[in-house]
Amino acid sequence: MKASPEPFLTPKNNISEEDFKWWRGIQFDRRDFNVYKKTAEKVFQMFPRSIDMPKPSPNRCRTCAVVGNSGNLNGSHYGPLIDLHDTVIRINGGPTKGYERHVGNKTTHRAMFPMSATNLDNSTHLVLFPFKIKDLEWLIDAFAARYRKDTNEQKGLKANKDLVMILSPAFMKYVHLNWLKKKGQYPSTGIMTVIFSIFMCDKVSVFGFGADKDGIWNHYFEEVLNLSLKRKTGNHPGSVEAEIINELFKRKKIYLYRGW
Ligand code: C5P
Repeated sequence: MKASPEPFLTPKNNISEEDFKWWRGIQFDRRDFNVYKKTAEKVFQMFPRSIDMPKPSPNRCRTCAVVGNSGNLNGSHYGPLIDLHDTVIRINGGPTKGYERHVGNKTTHRAMFPMSATNLDNSTHLVLFPFKIKDLEWLIDAFAARYRKDTNEQKGLKANKDLVMILSPAFMKYVHLNWLKKKGQYPSTGIMTVIFSIFMCDKVSVFGFGADKDGIWNHYFEEVLNLSLKRKTGNHPGSVEAEIINELFKRKKIYLYRGW
């Protein structure tokens, strides 16, 4: 497998025009590389210019829990186990309040894109998955809104600006080409989170991925009333992603907790 690019976008790890071309292919935005570069420059002025990740060390095992949103978490009692991990990464809007027993209540990182964004507390890293230039513009606006005098408190996103991390489009391309073998339009937030965690942690435990015991692709925080939604995974190749996760588990690259 080809060597991976760094997972996060920084001035030192900006993307090439070739990576940009792949990225533009997954979006409707027709603006060119120069617009991207100017937008990225603004992003680098506002958000951390380097990513502070715990370094590998022989004396320490960095543990990560990646918590997907599958209904297989319901009834699992995984909460305390999830909270034992140093890093707990949740995805999109997956709530903890009211579900603590099964999903835990610690969140160190939350992976999201603009449509799924939720307010975060001051100690949680916002990990943005940008699928287009507009998503980077959204990030700038979401934080700028908070600092404008004319804007009331409710506007913008509440999160700690100094803890923002942005997944690199080059890393998305790498996952799409090398892991998904170009299946689907682009990888889901979930699979990209699992793969970047392998770079961040020595031990990765994966929770809340896959269908529930009845084969239904649901969320732990929603009741599926319409069974035709079964295995609906949008633009993402759900079964290929499930196979990759199973394969990583078989090869002992991750621990997989399949739920109840
Ligand atoms: O539905 P949502 O995209 O918010 O879920 C976050 C991630 O959790 C997905 O990208 C997917 O990888 C995973 N998931 C899953 N099985 C489900 C629901 C979500 O594997 N039933």
